[in-house]
Amino acid sequence: MAPAAVSTNSSADDTRRHQPFEFNESVQSLVDASDNLEALPTKYNLGDTNDTRASSCESLPVIDYSALTSSDPHQRSKAIAELAEACADWGFFVLVNHGVPKELIESMFATVREFFRLPDDEKKQYEAKSTSSPIACGNFNLKSTSNETFTLWRDFLKLYVHPDFHCPTKPQPLREILAEYTERTRKMARELVGAVAESMELDRQYVEEALELDSSFQKFGGNFYPPCPQPDQTIGLPPHNDPGLFTILLIHNGLAGLQIERQSHWFEVNPPPNSMIVNVGDHLEIFSNGRCKSSRHRAVVNKERERLSIAVGNGPGKDVVVGPAALLVERDGGALYRSMKYQEYVESQLSRTFNGISILDEQRIST
Ligand code: OGA
Ligand code: NI
Repeated sequence: MAPAAVSTNSSADDTRRHQPFEFNESVQSLVDASDNLEALPTKYNLGDTNDTRASSCESLPVIDYSALTSSDPHQRSKAIAELAEACADWGFFVLVNHGVPKELIESMFATVREFFRLPDDEKKQYEAKSTSSPIACGNFNLKSTSNETFTLWRDFLKLYVHPDFHCPTKPQPLREILAEYTERTRKMARELVGAVAESMELDRQYVEEALELDSSFQKFGGNFYPPCPQPDQTIGLPPHNDPGLFTILLIHNGLAGLQIERQSHWFEVNPPPNSMIVNVGDHLEIFSNGRCKSSRHRAVVNKERERLSIAVGNGPGKDVVVGPAALLVERDGGALYRSMKYQEYVESQLSRTFNGISILDEQRIST
């Protein structure tokens, strides 16, 4: 789930002045209002600095969720080893046989799409008051290193869904659908964290307690990217890392647009039908003392089709000070990351600028 930007903070003062969330006009209504929008309004235009070239990626690891939770110990340990490998290599994988009913997923997409179709006046009541608003909807502004503001080609809905559940009242079925989906994905994320813990020979219960998974801070993110007249000049989501442990991403109709960085190359993902895309968040990289990798990724837009994605970010508890697990530090002979309170990390990430040093880079201890 995306706090969009990556980069170095200038001064604390700048951070206060920069307002990442905005709700003037949704991208959706901009597109609707103009019969045939041919050029991008300036604030969305990144110009030629925008390079979204990527190679196609055929080799994203595939993890079978039913094998991970299987009662057959052989099947299970094989799946755990594959999961550990995927987290260490790509930091991303395709999750199949996840067990979330197709009907639930389809009705969630339809209802979230309907939310984005609501008139701006109605959605404006959910405009974020601050970076910690539990319900936020609108657009995201980034500050470039030369201090210009740029708006992403994306309408978003961001909700805090655990330990307290927040949701707009309209469209009416949204609440029930999201309550069910986020509960299921929370359980899945917990299962994935447990499996990774096992692969690192850490006690599952110790890990769940250290990360306070009973009060896991979970965020729901709906991303809506309308068709864009000049897709090469703008971006839906710029390169970023997700905070937290695991993000579970669903892409409606598996439409291309997600790109992942691996070994300094960008790869475009084409998710297979009925699959989920899962990625390691910064805090799993930190907690695992670097065994798992949080990879940068971005979302590009296209001219022909609207794109809808749902990203559920699963974190530790809000107040947990996350650092490398003590046992791993002992084994490795030192911590490779500094510790920081989860909530502070998340908020600091939201007020960063475009293109620079990520907060994860700042947490790394150079050896
Ligand atoms: C996110 C994200 C990718 C996409 O929401 O954090 O990376 O394809 N989304 O929308
Ligand atoms: Ni993301």
